[in-house]
Amino acid sequence: MTDVVALARSGQPVVATSFDEWRAAARDLIVRRLPPESVQWSTQDGGGDLLSGMPPVVVAGSKVVDEVVAQTPDMSSDPPPRISRQLMELLQSAACYRAPDRWAFLYRVLWRWHHGEHEVISMADEDGARLHHMAKAVRHEEHDMHAYLRFRERPEEAGEPRFVAWFEPAHDVLPQVARHFARRMGKTSWMIATPDATVLWDGATLHTGEALARSAADFDDAGEALWLTYYRSIFNPARLNADIMHGHIRQRFWKNLPEAAVVPHMVTQAAAGARKVGQLDTVGKRGGTTIPISSEKAAPERQQPSSLDECRRCDLWQNATQAVGGQGARRAKIMLVGEQPGDQEDLAGKPFVGPAGELLDKAMDEAGMDRRTVYVTNAVKHFKWEPRGKRRLHKTPAQKEVMACHYWLEAELESIGPDVLVALGSTALKSILQTGSVTMKDYMGAPFEHDGRMVVVTYHPSYALRVPDRESRHAAFAAIVEALKTAQRLADGESPGA
Ligand code: URA
Repeated sequence: MTDVVALARSGQPVVATSFDEWRAAARDLIVRRLPPESVQWSTQDGGGDLLSGMPPVVVAGSKVVDEVVAQTPDMSSDPPPRISRQLMELLQSAACYRAPDRWAFLYRVLWRWHHGEHEVISMADEDGARLHHMAKAVRHEEHDMHAYLRFRERPEEAGEPRFVAWFEPAHDVLPQVARHFARRMGKTSWMIATPDATVLWDGATLHTGEALARSAADFDDAGEALWLTYYRSIFNPARLNADIMHGHIRQRFWKNLPEAAVVPHMVTQAAAGARKVGQLDTVGKRGGTTIPISSEKAAPERQQPSSLDECRRCDLWQNATQAVGGQGARRAKIMLVGEQPGDQEDLAGKPFVGPAGELLDKAMDEAGMDRRTVYVTNAVKHFKWEPRGKRRLHKTPAQKEVMACHYWLEAELESIGPDVLVALGSTALKSILQTGSVTMKDYMGAPFEHDGRMVVVTYHPSYALRVPDRESRHAAFAAIVEALKTAQRLADGESPGA
């Protein structure tokens, strides 16, 4: 036990304040053959509770290790540890688990693995079972924070986040959850406050700072009232099943969910059909003169989002990385309209840059159309998808989403002013015609005029990619090329019948 003595004499623990710190220190300790029982781990503040990934990391763990080694008589060394990806992932997750001995425990696991005890990651092993338990608890906490964190919108103020949220995570999951929301919320700024730290996303960069408040009560109440009003306005009693709602939300989260305060009241109201009754009270029972007014004028004025990035006209923004607007020549004579961004477009923020885009480029080449001279966009600007394993699978947008997004297509039409529209697939056609009841084949090969523009309808490039047999793929591709040629001719002033 020379090492223990050496460490005790040095009087310095090995310090780690993040997974990376721990990793660097652990690697050195392994190389220098310091067994777990000879190492004392500590966090910077002397406690066991730390925020992995929280900046700034000041403590140099390896310096302390060097001191230890200087006093260790046995100077022989081991090669650096090589570990499996599975172990790496387990260690990384478990490092976020709040336990006073987490760093020491992780080092013991690493040590055992390095010394051939690969059963250390098995559930049948005592350490392995604990490791899995920690990693699982952290994954659950991440999931809970994604699900139960509630952003509330704030009045727009220069330099201030648009959305704020309070959450009390049970483990150190804030950094990865922050990254998740940064990906999901695009350029919209937000702040997440927790009792340990605050993260701010300014639309481009994540900033981590000190805690602003220690409890939800310390946290701004005015915003809360706003959120409650909003929640009431979107609450639909018809969809409510109180048992399921309570069953799905774990007790711990109820206290910080703003809607928790109003839900019991709304549940009672819903059960009694209070919505209907409420309307009778406020509208139906009122006397006075009836003034005929068109329904359009009677509708309350809605504030339109000022930019596409802030669009909340439907819910699709919630799961998309960012809104994807159109791209191309500012005064293009031809506008190609697709369905919605795909996985790659969602990440790149540009339309038709993935596999469907490649096929479209090929068709344009063949049709003699230069992409730089046209404008390419989509009917729906946010990627709608569902998870399938680790992949995000495209989901066809609902007509109400197409209609909500038509606002943006209209804005593009107005600004670019194309003479010819190419509808790539039925979603595009439904958006252009603003109706869900259209059948593509009624319009294929027969350009028609709509709202002062010619519309050419053809297959969506993805169809030409995924239709099962080779012949149909060729035929679909040829039809797209033909439609592009037609669009070009129409844009050049040729009459449709020519
Ligand atoms: N599919 C579309 O409809 N649009 C894109 O931008 C990509 C794939």
